[in-house]
Amino acid sequence: MAPESIVTRVLAVDPDVPQPEPIRAAAEVLLAGGLVAFPTETVYGLGANARDAAAVGRIFAAKGRPASDPIIVHIASLGQLDEVAEHVPTLARRLAQEFWPGPLTLVLRRPAGIPANVSAGLPTVAVRMPQHQVALALARAAGTPIAAPSANLFARPSPTTAQHVLDDLRGRIDVVLDGGPTPIGLESTVLDLTRDPPALLRPGGVSAEALRALIPDLHLATLYLASAAAGAPEAAASPGMLVRHYSPRAELLLFGGSGAAALARMRATARRFIAAGKAVGILTPDEECDVFGDLPAHIVRLGPQGDMAEIGRRLFAGMRELDAAGVAVILVRGVPREGMGLAIWDRLFRAAEGRVIDADADDPG
Ligand code: TXA
Ligand code: MG
Repeated sequence: MAPESIVTRVLAVDPDVPQPEPIRAAAEVLLAGGLVAFPTETVYGLGANARDAAAVGRIFAAKGRPASDPIIVHIASLGQLDEVAEHVPTLARRLAQEFWPGPLTLVLRRPAGIPANVSAGLPTVAVRMPQHQVALALARAAGTPIAAPSANLFARPSPTTAQHVLDDLRGRIDVVLDGGPTPIGLESTVLDLTRDPPALLRPGGVSAEALRALIPDLHLATLYLASAAAGAPEAAASPGMLVRHYSPRAELLLFGGSGAAALARMRATARRFIAAGKAVGILTPDEECDVFGDLPAHIVRLGPQGDMAEIGRRLFAGMRELDAAGVAVILVRGVPREGMGLAIWDRLFRAAEGRVIDADADDPG
């Protein structure tokens, strides 16, 4: 049963120059086996001492996360890498040099000192060094690596503010370090270096293009990354990487196809739902907002069209805002699958349970 009775303390902290006091208090909670949510440059994480199997077990209970879904271990220095992983290949060190601290997670071999439940029993472990002063200060103060998945209830959009964390986990975790909104807003890139060739398991803050510069034969582990028309994702590419993930409660409809046709198809679909008495939400770039201006729909602007960093930053908050508004369905257009666009596409595709409405095909009515 999930613990519902804990008093969750919220500690404000400066994201750039974290005050020692809240960091020390949070580190003590971690070392006592408790759970601390903290900001990273990607999304908020829900941390436990990675060396404490019982504390890690509490993460699964608090999130309602299946035990089959492995957790990322966060470190504060390159020196810690060899404490949390073994047989670390040269390529991992080169990638760490280039992209850490930053939104790149490396899947490596798990040593005996990291409990099996961190990795859902796998012989591997996922590791990253976050680029956020609060996350780094917390790991340094605790003096131990921190196991942390995103700090949301299982299958909900990842939290990009402390309020999102509280909306999902208040009463289930000990502390939230509130360091304001997270700068990237989408989770880290996950790269499996235990396979040959290395495999991109989840696109994120470090682009596939940037990785290709160091890994020319990089493999895209999920078929949908390569093809919008793909059906089911490759089986068990990464444990816990279900298609339905990062999802709002509302049904999400993802529209592909070229500009004008996609917008027309979205309008027609919105009107059908509205006529049927359903509350409709629309996620849209600023420039396309007026297309829906005359419809009685909840419209959330994601930022300037083409500004993938801004759209990525606002995407999960937008999904949560529409859920809070009580919409039954969310309509959104796909984005070009390059750079951060690939990560945005991935989250939309999963939230849409792998279905894409092709606006260039005939409308079945
Ligand atoms: O940006 C992020 O990565 C955030 C912040 C808090 O660091 N964390 C995050 O964690 O998104 P989570 O648990 O929500 O997603 C971790 C992903 C999961 O899809 C999981 O399956 C994969 O990483 N993963 C973790 N360990 C793995 C392993 N040993 N092998 C393969 N995939 C692994
Ligand atoms: Mg997550």
